[in-house]
Amino acid sequence: MVGSTLCRQSLSGASLSGCAVAFGARVVHHRLVGDRPIPDFSVKPTLIGQRVLLRPFQDSDFDGLRAALRDPEAARLTGSVTSSQAVVLAQDPTRERRLREWYSTRNAQTDRLDLAVVDVAGGACVGEVVLNKWDPDNLCCNFRTLIGPGGRDRGLGTEAIRMFIGYGFEQLHLHRISLEVFAFNPRARRVYEKVGFVAEGVLRDALRFDGRWVDATVMSVLAPEWARHRGRP
Ligand SMILES: CC(C)(COP(=O)(O)OP(=O)(O)OC[C@H]1O[C@@H](n2cnc3c(N)ncnc32)[C@H](O)[C@@H]1OP(=O)(O)O)[C@@H](O)C(=O)NCCC(=O)NCCS
Repeated sequence: MVGSTLCRQSLSGASLSGCAVAFGARVVHHRLVGDRPIPDFSVKPTLIGQRVLLRPFQDSDFDGLRAALRDPEAARLTGSVTSSQAVVLAQDPTRERRLREWYSTRNAQTDRLDLAVVDVAGGACVGEVVLNKWDPDNLCCNFRTLIGPGGRDRGLGTEAIRMFIGYGFEQLHLHRISLEVFAFNPRARRVYEKVGFVAEGVLRDALRFDGRWVDATVMSVLAPEWARHRGRP
């Protein structure tokens, strides 16, 4: 980038919102344009918590990801299907190939960050956390997550989201991270509130599921809020 300075720093063993950050010896998280830090999404970190590890995808993660994506509850809660009768990710070789390709190309993306959520207890990938829709002018991103049935309701999501959002503010220097959560997903909303997301407004009738309209709530965290509570409001 013309006129930019590369900001390099070693973060081996550094602390990030209560988790450890493991990288190679020299790491680039952001560039400086003037005195303004611009996130560098080409760096794919490994974030180490007590219950979860967040790291770049590996080929061996695909079985866990497929199980999470095929789960009917996850498909409903993420708005991926519009009916409880919908067959989620039927055994379709073309679709399977596309999915494999999708996950095998995540580590090469330079405008988003997709990390595997690994259950430290069993060592398996149980889902993903994603910062996407990067808006460089406004230093903001969208957040989304998905944890498969085996990983849910054990505290993994709370820890994973807290670490990941912490990385977004503390290392990527984002100003705003936002998301949408459907009204029929109180568990996700609870977790988002626990780590500091604030409800901003309601998108009325944003989804039609089984013929019924469902609202979605827009939530966000801003950098000054995160600096104050670091995921524990
Ligand atoms: C949302 C998700 C990431 C949360 O992760 P998780 O590991 O299951 O959540 P945790 O175990 O860390 O925490 C769940 C919290 O919700 C609470 N909870 C569970 N069911 C609930 C319900 N029906 N209503 C309200 N709160 C509920 C739990 O008590 C816990 O809160 P607490 O720690 O204060 O007791 C995960 O469940 C998931 O991926 N679900 C499927 C897909 C999805 O919903 N994605 C998000 C779309 S916006």
